[in-house]
Amino acid sequence: MASSAAGCVVIVGSGVIGRSWAMLFASGGFQVKLYDIEQQQIRNALENIRKEMKLLEQAGSLKGSLSVEEQLSLISGCPNIQEAVEGAMHIQECVPEDLELKKKIFAQLDSIIDDRVILSSSTSCLMPSKLFAGLVHVKQCIVAHPVNPPYYIPLVELVPHPETAPTTVDRTHALMKKIGQCPMRVQKEVAGFVLNRLQYAIISEAWRLVEEGIVSPSDLDLVMSEGLGMRYAFIGPLETMHLNAEGMLSYCDRYSEGMKHVLQTFGPIPEFSRATAEKVNQDMCMKVPDDPEHLAARRQWRDECLMRLAKLKSQVQPQ
Ligand code: NAI
Repeated sequence: MASSAAGCVVIVGSGVIGRSWAMLFASGGFQVKLYDIEQQQIRNALENIRKEMKLLEQAGSLKGSLSVEEQLSLISGCPNIQEAVEGAMHIQECVPEDLELKKKIFAQLDSIIDDRVILSSSTSCLMPSKLFAGLVHVKQCIVAHPVNPPYYIPLVELVPHPETAPTTVDRTHALMKKIGQCPMRVQKEVAGFVLNRLQYAIISEAWRLVEEGIVSPSDLDLVMSEGLGMRYAFIGPLETMHLNAEGMLSYCDRYSEGMKHVLQTFGPIPEFSRATAEKVNQDMCMKVPDDPEHLAARRQWRDECLMRLAKLKSQVQPQ
């Protein structure tokens, strides 16, 4: 394996998210060591990464300035965690979403790392104060939550533990930028971080509207894919307000009473009842039958769309 001037990153857990991180770090020129408790998972990951990178190269969508072979030469499997973390600058944990399992792994890493490496978790919803409680190296700990599929969706939420050092946040921010991702800082931990709070707010209103018979499930989805989502790929809800009037203050003057009136009509948290789930499922299955083949084909189509959108965004928004 090639060594890298950029530094060495360790991935703990070589599943869906671990593989994506490995590809992203290699695209930025980092040496990547993949560790997993299952040796077969490491072999599968290396094989899968090779295939993915070849396909990306054919599609002209491989990230970074290195060739496929150069990127692949930076990634290797390592069956021993202690060996893997030696000399590493960043460790990205990607094991299943289970607090006790993650805490066990962080305790193990805490006992073998030095004072310089950053210890980062990919968790979607576990709180940093729970994950990193009691660790000696807590100042070096942070959550860096990616969005699936991370190779095509660049956002990474950075969520510190209350005792995380500001330099840990800054270094992780800089590292994410270096590999072409788009980091944002969550300044205080909160359940669901920011992305999932917004996502759940949308899901819950979507569910209520369908449950109350106001709109069909497919038409509800159109509101996002052909309406709000068209804007949201480029500007967020706050900038939308700013642009939809003569600036934010003008928007609030004009529309805040109307917004409050509508917001007062929102219902309670949905129960996500079986009956409504079946109704939604029936509509969804007309478009995408829920067998593994159809679901995989649709995910592939989604990823191709995201890849094209990423290309478009790089043309209209020079970094
Ligand atoms: P996964 O199930 O695909 O992969 C987990 C990997 O961890 C497996 O290869 C497993 O063998 C390995 N593992 C289990 N115990 C281990 C141990 N003790 N030491 C080392 N490796 C071990 O899981 P996935 O989907 O990659 O998720 C990983 C993390 O990323 C989770 O915290 C999840 O919440 C988060 N995440 C997942 C997203 C998704 O859409 N899949 C999106 C964003 C974050």
